[in-house]
Amino acid sequence: MIRLAIVGTGGMANMHAQSFAAIEGVQVVACCDIDESRVTAFAAKHGIPGAFVGLEQLLAEADFSAASVVTPDSTHAELSLQLLKAGKHVLCEKPLATTIEDADTMAREAQQTGLINMVNFSYRNSSAWQRACEVIANGDLGRIYHFHAHYLQSWLTSVEWGDWKTSPGWLWRLSRKHGSHGALGDIGVHLLDFATGPVGAAKSLYCHLKTFEKAEGGRIGDYVLDANDTALITLECANGAVGTLSITRWATGHQNSLVLSVHGDRGALRLDLDKSYELMEICRVAPDGRTEPWQRIYCGKTPNIYQRFIESIRTGKQDQPDFARGAEVQALLHACSISSGQHSRVQL
Ligand SMILES: NC(=O)c1ccc[n+]([C@@H]2O[C@H](COP(=O)([O-])OP(=O)(O)OC[C@H]3O[C@@H](n4cnc5c(N)ncnc54)[C@H](O)[C@@H]3O)[C@@H](O)[C@H]2O)c1
Repeated sequence: MIRLAIVGTGGMANMHAQSFAAIEGVQVVACCDIDESRVTAFAAKHGIPGAFVGLEQLLAEADFSAASVVTPDSTHAELSLQLLKAGKHVLCEKPLATTIEDADTMAREAQQTGLINMVNFSYRNSSAWQRACEVIANGDLGRIYHFHAHYLQSWLTSVEWGDWKTSPGWLWRLSRKHGSHGALGDIGVHLLDFATGPVGAAKSLYCHLKTFEKAEGGRIGDYVLDANDTALITLECANGAVGTLSITRWATGHQNSLVLSVHGDRGALRLDLDKSYELMEICRVAPDGRTEPWQRIYCGKTPNIYQRFIESIRTGKQDQPDFARGAEVQALLHACSISSGQHSRVQL
């Protein structure tokens, strides 16, 4: 039996509690939050026996070997490092950290402890994405020339996900002081992993970040609304492929749309998670140069990241994405911020 604790009991922690509870041989034994009423309600809702206020109390009083960190981005580094120091395996939410230095420290410490460490790039739960990585790595699309990807949300223009103007759970995501890197750090981080994972490491990038006016005086209460809500990125990869990434919270008509198209000289593929996590569309160039019709390939199920984290603990074999991958993507986020500030292309 693997005894697991959840650190942070806000919105996303529900997904962690449900996903871990569904894995045989795992028991969520404890949770903690800095908000006592929230952690008490969360423990009751998910039937978790131990509820603690703050990580210190959790570490002092609960018996567990693994933890997931599901707190606001600015706290990931400190909490994960404390957990690693206490000898716990850690699944940390994305982005791994809010600075490149913190992300590198986390990757280094995690490697030195030999404990299992993973970052929750959850769109890797798409079996079609896993297959796309294999297809490209096998050379089935030939040389990759071009790719484009987008991650579109609309919670700033609609209420389907709740009212951001009155909810602290949304407001911290709009405020740099509250540790947010805006749309780039929140969803751009997923897209950067989703695109560069299969296509290849980035060599240089250009990024334009935009923060639109959202409230009178640019603030709501304590929240200064200064984090970006749109990011436009052009990337050049070490293998020569070039691509564009488009990320926004203003995409009216799209709740949570993630798309990747990749084009090589022997074929192309596309993934559209609105259609299915399991569907890869692919077309190939025939030996006579004709482009064959697009085919739909259903790729079945793949273990989700919660299952892979637990499997890594059981086998002692570190699966991806680990903290080192989280730090690589953090370097891309950092380069995007520099590029946007300097209005210039950044080499990686
Ligand atoms: N992988 C994904 O697809 C995905 C989806 C949603 C959110 N997330 C990530 O999950 C994290 C949490 O997001 P959320 O939507 O649940 O936020 P949230 O604001 O709803 O919840 C965060 C919780 O953490 C608690 N907290 C803050 N500081 C703490 C500390 N030091 N110790 C313990 N608890 C603390 C807060 O009180 C709150 O209850 C973020 O990093 C976010 O980027 C990831």
